[in-house]
Amino acid sequence: MLQNQTILRIPGPTPIPPSVQRAMQQPMIGHRDPETAELLKSIQPGMQQIFGTKQVVSVVAGSGTSGLEAAVVNTVAPGDKVIVCVTGAFGERFAAICKSYQIETIILEEVWGEPVNPKKLEQLLHENPDSAAVFITYCETSTSVLNPIAELSELIHSQSNALVIVDGVSCIGGVELEMDQWKLDVVVTGSQKAFMLPGGLMFVAFSDDARQKMNANPRPRFYLDLLKYEKAAQEFSTPFTPATSLLYGLQEVMQLMKEETLESVFKRHLQLRDMTRAALRALNLELLAGDAFASPTVTAFLTPGIEAKQVRKQLSERFGIRIAGGQGHQKDTVLRIGHMGYCSATDVLLIISALEVVLTDLGHVFEAGQGTVAAQKALIGGNVHV
Ligand SMILES: Cc1ncc(COP(=O)(O)O)c(C=O)c1O
Repeated sequence: MLQNQTILRIPGPTPIPPSVQRAMQQPMIGHRDPETAELLKSIQPGMQQIFGTKQVVSVVAGSGTSGLEAAVVNTVAPGDKVIVCVTGAFGERFAAICKSYQIETIILEEVWGEPVNPKKLEQLLHENPDSAAVFITYCETSTSVLNPIAELSELIHSQSNALVIVDGVSCIGGVELEMDQWKLDVVVTGSQKAFMLPGGLMFVAFSDDARQKMNANPRPRFYLDLLKYEKAAQEFSTPFTPATSLLYGLQEVMQLMKEETLESVFKRHLQLRDMTRAALRALNLELLAGDAFASPTVTAFLTPGIEAKQVRKQLSERFGIRIAGGQGHQKDTVLRIGHMGYCSATDVLLIISALEVVLTDLGHVFEAGQGTVAAQKALIGGNVHV
């Protein structure tokens, strides 16, 4: 196989556009020099637009998990009780973080592949009216479910005083987000998925209510003290040395998204999802998430009758295409295709076409070519810029 011809279609990290790669190669600058302030200043409007907020979006050097941990330690005071919605591996992570701080954690658990059931959440809020926060995963990367966070947030605020805390690591930048309008209190994401950057940056914004809670919260925190980041960001600075090269990359990402327009970025992701799902169905494969809650950024599916890991292995060895396996108890049964960030219809057509070859050789029964035809049909007539 050709060296370097790896086609990365896991749900993050994702491929990096060439202009972003180039932007990250710029010479280093001093983090307290005016150039860094200019860089941070230029990034802020685009980030606020992506988050749908007038609040400051802080840029923190850390992975997505640092954002989850920061959300917990800043908003949950010792003695507080919280509800964590677990729809897959990343809901479990939120719960694990809460438990590691010995926080009383009520878990709302769904079968993997299902979204949060609002009735169950309402019941839990009723039983635990003193809950300080509800944690929700926007796109549950392990199952490819996009939880209905606007609806859930409305429910939470109508039934309680709990803060609504959202992990948007695997979808923000690729899907709609209206943080202020949806009354989300803390929103966290990371750089290596729809933001088309390497891992290493965490982005976070929070509401006035969350800020009040943070100010009153005696829980110790230092590097992940979000109030420090917000204060510094207001002055186009960072409390600690920033990951400057990634900031250059982020500046270019903001430019690319501006040129494409956010509306088109979101439409493109919907189109990629629809192509992928139509194709997998036509190949007699089983989609893990239902249509109503299918994420535009990743698609999880099952391969009844054939070993999932063989599909992955052959795609990698014969075509250089890397897709992901499942997580947790779905490790050996589920496969996941990432279609977020720097991803076009061309990429989906390519993967589906290669997948057909692999499935045929593994003895899977389907009508040859029908996956590609289904993906094409989902594309024809669409006016989406890809
Ligand atoms: C939904 C979600 N949350 C959190 C994380 C953790 O991010 P990181 O691996 O950058 O710490 C991921 C990573 O895949 C994710 O998909």
